[in-house]
Amino acid sequence: MKILITGGAGYIGSHTAYALKKEGHEPVVLDSLVNGHNWAVKYGPLVQGDIGDAALVARACAEHKPDAAIHFAAFIEVGESVANPQKYMENNYHKAQRLFDTLCDSGVKRVVFSSTAAVYGTPVSEAPIAEDHPQKPINPYGESKLLAETYLRSLESKGMRSVALRYFNAAGAAPIEEGIGEAHDPETHLIPNVLLAGLGLKDEVKLFGTDYPTRDGTALRDYIHVLDLAAAHLAALNYLASGGATDVCNLGTGNGSTVLEVVQAAERALGHAVPQSRHERRAGDPPMLVANASRAREKLGWQPRYNLDEIVTSALEWHRSKKAV
Ligand SMILES: NC(=O)c1ccc[n+]([C@@H]2O[C@H](COP(=O)([O-])OP(=O)(O)OC[C@H]3O[C@@H](n4cnc5c(N)ncnc54)[C@H](O)[C@@H]3O)[C@@H](O)[C@H]2O)c1
Repeated sequence: MKILITGGAGYIGSHTAYALKKEGHEPVVLDSLVNGHNWAVKYGPLVQGDIGDAALVARACAEHKPDAAIHFAAFIEVGESVANPQKYMENNYHKAQRLFDTLCDSGVKRVVFSSTAAVYGTPVSEAPIAEDHPQKPINPYGESKLLAETYLRSLESKGMRSVALRYFNAAGAAPIEEGIGEAHDPETHLIPNVLLAGLGLKDEVKLFGTDYPTRDGTALRDYIHVLDLAAAHLAALNYLASGGATDVCNLGTGNGSTVLEVVQAAERALGHAVPQSRHERRAGDPPMLVANASRAREKLGWQPRYNLDEIVTSALEWHRSKKAV
């Protein structure tokens, strides 16, 4: 299949392009490079431009004739979305709407969409979260993603079929010889920040909240290897290609790890302690966020393969290689 990948110069998009190419598919990246990297586009051509530019998207569809699209392009910082909601609503919702319309009008009627666990807001209980959990985002980032999901679903009436994938916490990297990995600026995710502190590229990692009702008092999250996410996108494309109906699936392992367990995994991989400081809880951080991903298993035939140690080790190799250059 030929697949248009918006945001394919970013972290998860570049890993999905790698996974698609490896399976014999043809990725075409559409990215403005506002936050992505030219060096991460290795597995197919780059169309450089904005997802909200309908003429450009229509031209890319006419030239490359993709069978389907995966929409990753978005702004991803929750804190920034609170400070600047307009920026997030414009990029993640209004431009996504324009993109979906243009794809549909151009005959690209199968779309896989990057959504997020942030659509659920604060969990109503500590049980793993299933797709029918109430969707009440507590920040503009989550709101913008939920609105885009809803709009995409509404295009069913025009023949569009889609799968929205709600990821929990993405981490890890492709085999080191591929030369792709997580490179956000600023980096707000826990695993890269723990490793950057461990490698001496940051003074320390700040751990927020040590009095949560979890097994060691730190917040518990569901970390999923970026290659497991990439495999789920491929499974969703296959599902749609074989006639599957519009749906939404969580992507996580169903096994949470606490902040301290992540630090310990990093210390095992590094072979030494990570400089750290402990702070009060951050507003809006729930104690636990774990996926019930049984729908992705049943409908897409998808199964995560990597555990926390493998996630952390692959991310460490990537950050080490960046430190060396
Ligand atoms: N990283 C995570 O843990 C995580 C978790 C849940 C959901 N997601 C979702 O996954 C997707 C990818 O996340 P990521 O971590 O790879 O982010 P990223 O910032 O590395 O990649 C996003 C890419 O989109 C591009 N982009 C942004 N706006 C654009 C626009 N208007 N036009 C064209 N290109 C544009 C950027 O240049 C960048 O290359 C996002 O939609 C995000 O909301 C990520």
